[in-house]
Amino acid sequence: MRTIDWVDGAVELIDQTALPDRLSTLRLETVEELADAIGRLAVRGAPALGVAGALGVALAARRHGSDPEALAAAVRRLATARPTAVNLALGVHRAAGRLPDGPDAVLAEALAVRDEEIAASEAMARLGADLLLELCGDRPRLLTHCNTGGLATVVGGTALGAVLELHRRGVLDSVVASETRPLLQGARLTAWELDRAGVDFRVAVDGAGPFLMARGEVDAVVLGADRICANGDTVNKIGSYAHALGARRAGIPFVVVAPESTVDLATATGAEVQIEDRGTAEVLTRPDGASVGPAGTRAANPAFDVTPHDLITAIVTDRRVIRLDRGERL
Ligand code: MRU
Repeated sequence: MRTIDWVDGAVELIDQTALPDRLSTLRLETVEELADAIGRLAVRGAPALGVAGALGVALAARRHGSDPEALAAAVRRLATARPTAVNLALGVHRAAGRLPDGPDAVLAEALAVRDEEIAASEAMARLGADLLLELCGDRPRLLTHCNTGGLATVVGGTALGAVLELHRRGVLDSVVASETRPLLQGARLTAWELDRAGVDFRVAVDGAGPFLMARGEVDAVVLGADRICANGDTVNKIGSYAHALGARRAGIPFVVVAPESTVDLATATGAEVQIEDRGTAEVLTRPDGASVGPAGTRAANPAFDVTPHDLITAIVTDRRVIRLDRGERL
C-alpha cells in the first residue's frame, strides 16, 4: 500500500486526518485540492510532501500546460503550502524544471521523485537498523517522535522504517511512541503502523519522554527530520529538542534518520529555517469543539523545533552514516 501515488491522471493519497479510525483514500485532481490537503496534513511527513509537491506540478502541467502565469501560480501555491520541510519545495521545483518539456516529462520527473523516495526508505531502514544495533546492542528499547513510517514517505519510512526493520529481524524489544501534541501523529499514526506490524509499543505524552529516559526505560531515541542544515542542526516536529536534551542527560544515543533529499546544504544553521506556526485552534480546541482554556486564550504553536547538532549522535541517510559525536560533518 502506497501513501501517495499517481493513479489514472490524478493524485491519490491516504487521508491521514481520518486515521486510525478509518483507512480512506482521497483522489485529488487540482492543485488547489492538493495544496489544501497538504495544509491540513491529510498528507504529511517530509518525503511524502516532496512526492506530493512533484505530483502537484504534474497536475498543473496537464491542466494549465499552455498558460505560463497559471503554471507559475500553481508552482508557488504548492511550494509554499507548508514552509519548513525542504522536501516540498525541492519536489515542486524539480518537477517544475521539466515544464518546458511538456506534461509527460513533468510526470516522468515526479514519478522519479516518488521512486527515489521508495528506494531511499529501503536503504535507510537497513543503515538505521545496523547503527541502532551497533549503538545499543541486541533488543533495544527505542523512543520515537511524530510519525516517520510509511505514512510519512511512500512506503517504508525513515526512522520508523529502521525500527520496523529491527522488528523484522527479530531483534527489537519495544517502542515508546511519543504522542506528538497537538495533532497526535505519534498516538494516531505511529501507533497505527506499529500495531499493524505487531510491535510491542506504548504511547507516552511528549513530556514523559525525558523522564522515561532518566528512569532507564529507553536505550536510544530515533526520529526523522524535515530539514537538516549544513552544520547538522536538525529541524523536526516540535518536541524533538526536548527529547534530545533528555537523551543527552540520560547518556543515550539520539539518532536522526532522513533521506539525502532532506539535507539542505544551502541553509547554514537551524536559525535560518522558517518554522511553521499553526495558530491557536488546534492546541486549544477539544474534540467536541469546545475551548480548553478560558475564552480568548491564545496558544503558542510552533509545529517544529531545532535540535542543535551537538546533541545529535548520528545522522543516517540513504547513502551514509554521519557520526556527529565523532566530529564527522555533512
Ligand atoms: O507536521 P508533520 O506531521 O508533517 O511533521 C512531520 C515530521 O516532523 C516528521 O518527523 C518528519 O517529516 C520526518 S518524516 C519521515
